[in-house]
Amino acid sequence: MIRVIRSIGQMKDLSLRIKKAGKTIGFVPTMGYLHDGHISLVSMARQACDIVVVSIFVNPKQFGPGEDLKKYPRDFSRDKKLLMKAKADIIFYPAVKEMYPDGYRTNVYVSDLSGKLCGASRPGHFNGVTTIVAKLFNIVKPDTAYFGQKDFQQQVIIKKMARDLNMGVKISALPTIRERDGLAMSSRNAYLSKVERKNAPVIYRSLKFANQLIKSGVKSSTAIRSAITKLIKSKPGFKIDYIAVSDPETLEDKKTINGRTLVAVAVYLGKTRLIDNIVVR
Ligand code: PAJ
Repeated sequence: MIRVIRSIGQMKDLSLRIKKAGKTIGFVPTMGYLHDGHISLVSMARQACDIVVVSIFVNPKQFGPGEDLKKYPRDFSRDKKLLMKAKADIIFYPAVKEMYPDGYRTNVYVSDLSGKLCGASRPGHFNGVTTIVAKLFNIVKPDTAYFGQKDFQQQVIIKKMARDLNMGVKISALPTIRERDGLAMSSRNAYLSKVERKNAPVIYRSLKFANQLIKSGVKSSTAIRSAITKLIKSKPGFKIDYIAVSDPETLEDKKTINGRTLVAVAVYLGKTRLIDNIVVR
């Protein structure tokens, strides 16, 4: 049976007991509305660790004003079934007031990295992410925590936080899981209309095209950005937020492409913000 824990105190006690028994904890933080991308992280934790903890918490602190906090999809009983099937042991499912009681004041912020790419268009977003992930790490005390490369910048920032703050948690970043037509799985795909959903795969197609161009010797990031823009704009309904050609560790812009290169895009399709990326080697 899967255990659902809503109190921080109970979760901390349970984690302590697990560790005292000499068992390892694998942890997958999520905002719920689970799909195969989340489940791939749970499966990896299941293989590598004794006890698998998954958190479900739609974190208000990482949503900006005017973003989709209120309408973010939620379905706990469906998530619970999926997690039982994936053989997770514990769901940590706290209420907002449990995580942020009145008078809450503390933030964890990773400088430089948090202001780039998605951080530039979503000010405060990564402050919210690192703060909640630090809290979750303190509560769950995982040996290893699993993140998706779908949110490439997020896993870079969390690795940096864990190292800088000596958290003693190993961060494992796993490949993006996609729909059959290439669209990266995301809880936000549920927002797409039928027509938007039909056009959405052009995002990944444009990344694969960029990959081909780079492999065939194109070195100018401007050329890559305009090729991606052109492909995406060939479909209706898209507004490009950013196209980044960057160093995958520092997230600094690359003018000239050399070595491992992150190509990351963020677009609005109608009102839905979608992100995707590839790393070209
Ligand atoms: P959420 O969007 O629910 O994602 C939870 C984890 O699943 C993240 O590590 C994310 O990168 C991963 N993920 C999402 N889509 C994926 C896909 N298609 N393939 C592989 N992995 C995928 O990211 C968050 O929640 C939050 O910011 C969180 C870290 C939980 C902090 O609130």
